[in-house]
Amino acid sequence: MARDKVTVTVIKADVGSVVGHSRPHPSMMDVSREILAEKQKRGVINDFYVTRVGDDINLFMTHYRGEGDKEVHQAAWDCFQAATKIAKSMKLYAAGQDILTDAFSGNVKGAGPGSAEMTFEERGSEPLLFFLADKTEPSSFSGPLSRVFLDPFTTTGLVVDARAKQGFDVEIHDVLKSERVVMSSPEETLSMLSLLGDTSRYAIKRVTSRAGIGPACVLSTDKLNLTAGKYIGKDDPVCICRCQSGLPSVGEYTQPFLNTTWLAAGWMRGSHYGAFYPCSPEESDPTYYDGPPRICCLGFQLNDGMLQGLEPAGSAGGKHEPVDFFKGDTFAEARARAIRASRFMRSQGPFVPSILPAEEMEYTSRPEVLKSLVSRFEKIPGSGSAKGAPACEKDVE
Ligand code: 13P
Ligand code: 13P
Ligand code: MG
Ligand code: MG
Repeated sequence: MARDKVTVTVIKADVGSVVGHSRPHPSMMDVSREILAEKQKRGVINDFYVTRVGDDINLFMTHYRGEGDKEVHQAAWDCFQAATKIAKSMKLYAAGQDILTDAFSGNVKGAGPGSAEMTFEERGSEPLLFFLADKTEPSSFSGPLSRVFLDPFTTTGLVVDARAKQGFDVEIHDVLKSERVVMSSPEETLSMLSLLGDTSRYAIKRVTSRAGIGPACVLSTDKLNLTAGKYIGKDDPVCICRCQSGLPSVGEYTQPFLNTTWLAAGWMRGSHYGAFYPCSPEESDPTYYDGPPRICCLGFQLNDGMLQGLEPAGSAGGKHEPVDFFKGDTFAEARARAIRASRFMRSQGPFVPSILPAEEMEYTSRPEVLKSLVSRFEKIPGSGSAKGAPACEKDVE
């Protein structure tokens, strides 16, 4: 029987946490499960899974309604409203942090929560990975995903799998100008890296197979701090990946998080560089200086639109157990390196590059400091008004 294309949706938000920015209260997760179980019963969604990374609740949903569906987004909205209510009743920290509007307008985009959605024809076997991050921003995935999709010395599949070898279309977002461009590997790999290397501006939104397999991965890129015009929480990202058979294998996706200690912008007050710490959701409390930025990786097989994990087939109601890739000893070495690297960054105190460049700081007292010094700043004697040398090469015609 031919089925419609399936949509996998993850919508996530931080609506308050126990002890600073640490973790949602278990009852906030429970109420989300109850609401999604009800939505499942009513046929809005086919299946769901509720988890968290640090203080962010992540709702995985599967359905046949396509991307941006009002009812599916409403389901997530209802979860976050109910969880916010609990957070407020407990006086949890930053209750309702990512909820920017009182009125739901049919889509969570621009309303605060982050969302990643992909729609595709379910293959004979459909392995999915969900990467969830806290205390960072979407562009922190650019390094790892460049390794996965653009680097044959990382992903052998790019060399030995004929379909992967055809390359990938990468949709890159300019988060400052709200513009996007699609570039193609392998031809444009080096040009892509010249954009992606600037993580303050460019981020990968989506990667698509050029061999006709459809989407390979999609990220949430709703730039919260810009959306709101003022800081109300970092845009902690999620990334959904399809794996194997012409796409990167499961292990090709996870490998970069062990091989490299990635620096990610975010961490304390959303204003520092710390190292990505790959771990289980259970271990994702930000225990060191509000971090360092945590990343979790959970895997499900898709089974006719249902999330097949380790529980008996057919069990529903969000009682799934995914495979938890960063749990356990294999990634212990990466965690130890992440703490070492993060401690090194901290040793630099309030100096760049331990803190972010001025325009990316989410807190700053500089305008007040400058204001208080207006009458004390004076011209440096002898500095004159002569035209100086060109500031850099690009100023020279
Ligand atoms: P198996 O031979 O165990 O199926 O593994 C194949 C593979 O592609 C692993 O990445
Ligand atoms: P979250 O974005 O995870 O809420 O963290 C904010 C923060 O300021 C941590 O120090
Ligand atoms: Mg928070
Ligand atoms: Mg968070």
